[in-house]
Amino acid sequence: MTIEESTFGYTKENQRVSLFKLGNGAGMTVEILNYGGIIKNICVPDRYGKVEDVVLGHDNITDYEEKSDYFGCIAGRFANRINQGRFRINGTQFQLPQNSNGNSLHGGIKGFDKQIWKAQTFHSGDEVGVSLFYLSEDGEEDYPGNMKCWVTYTLDNSNQLKIEYRAETDKTTIVNLTNHTYFNLKDGGETTILNHDLKIKASCFTPVDAKLIPHGTIDSVNDTPFDFREFKTIGEHIETGHVQLKNGGGYDHNFVLDKEDGACELIASVYEPISGRLLDVLTTEPGIQFYSGNFLKGDIVGKNGVAYKFRSGLCLETQHFPDAPNHDNFPSTILNPGEQFESATIYKFGVEP
Ligand code: GLA
Repeated sequence: MTIEESTFGYTKENQRVSLFKLGNGAGMTVEILNYGGIIKNICVPDRYGKVEDVVLGHDNITDYEEKSDYFGCIAGRFANRINQGRFRINGTQFQLPQNSNGNSLHGGIKGFDKQIWKAQTFHSGDEVGVSLFYLSEDGEEDYPGNMKCWVTYTLDNSNQLKIEYRAETDKTTIVNLTNHTYFNLKDGGETTILNHDLKIKASCFTPVDAKLIPHGTIDSVNDTPFDFREFKTIGEHIETGHVQLKNGGGYDHNFVLDKEDGACELIASVYEPISGRLLDVLTTEPGIQFYSGNFLKGDIVGKNGVAYKFRSGLCLETQHFPDAPNHDNFPSTILNPGEQFESATIYKFGVEP
């Protein structure tokens, strides 16, 4: 196991950004930035042993600051959307910045994805990793409470990348944390992800309106394009004109996972037939946002000069449900003083012959 630290660059405010390169004995490397907790690269072998980068991103800090679409970052304090940025805690109304089409998205104007985190590396047995810490101050992006947040990335020898989240607050607040990596298991984003096969262990999903805000119902996936309980090619039903696919511009939906509360279980897999690469996703979270990269339109040029076209990356964002603070029937996202928010997600890479 190896770990190397280097300087990735300097932000516009002249803050130094570090890059941590984690390596294992099985040919996998992961590069992490202390800016936004961004996963910049994940290099894994294909079925012939060829190691390639399978995530979208940039090769310099300025592009992450100026033209990233949440590539690889930690989204927080509240990942995904809150209707009009409004919610109540014990009768008090809070108003967050409306940074996306009248709603709050991914923590606001300067969310966790644009902050510098304190970083510490560790190396233990057959694991190597980096622990990140960020203090989100009371009132930052108009959220209540000083919230301390820890995110730990750990790589092991079985090609598992584990992400552990922990948070504490001194005033009642809301929290929803995820990682927003865009995967393309074939070529890191040169072509579309429509030929990837996907499986999600979810009998239900949370339908949305045309602004991607959940109606509040939990609907069955039976006989809909949202049934991924067996492997299905992502492109198979994406253009069928289902009203939910119209509202999402493709898949951009929260799936309600069939799992035990809090247990870390295998809940999704993606397979890319040409490379043979397989990604398994395990989580303790109750939901996952499957986003088929519908807002990408070729105007963002990323690593190695690749322009990320429509649907050239997919995200599997483990999470609590979008707009949960406004829906009592969704698992609670309230964090009280004295409590600990804890969650874990594992991205495990392999190949099929
Ligand atoms: C999430 C959302 C999408 C989009 C992306 C970022 O996946 O669900 O609607 O906002 O983030 O572009």
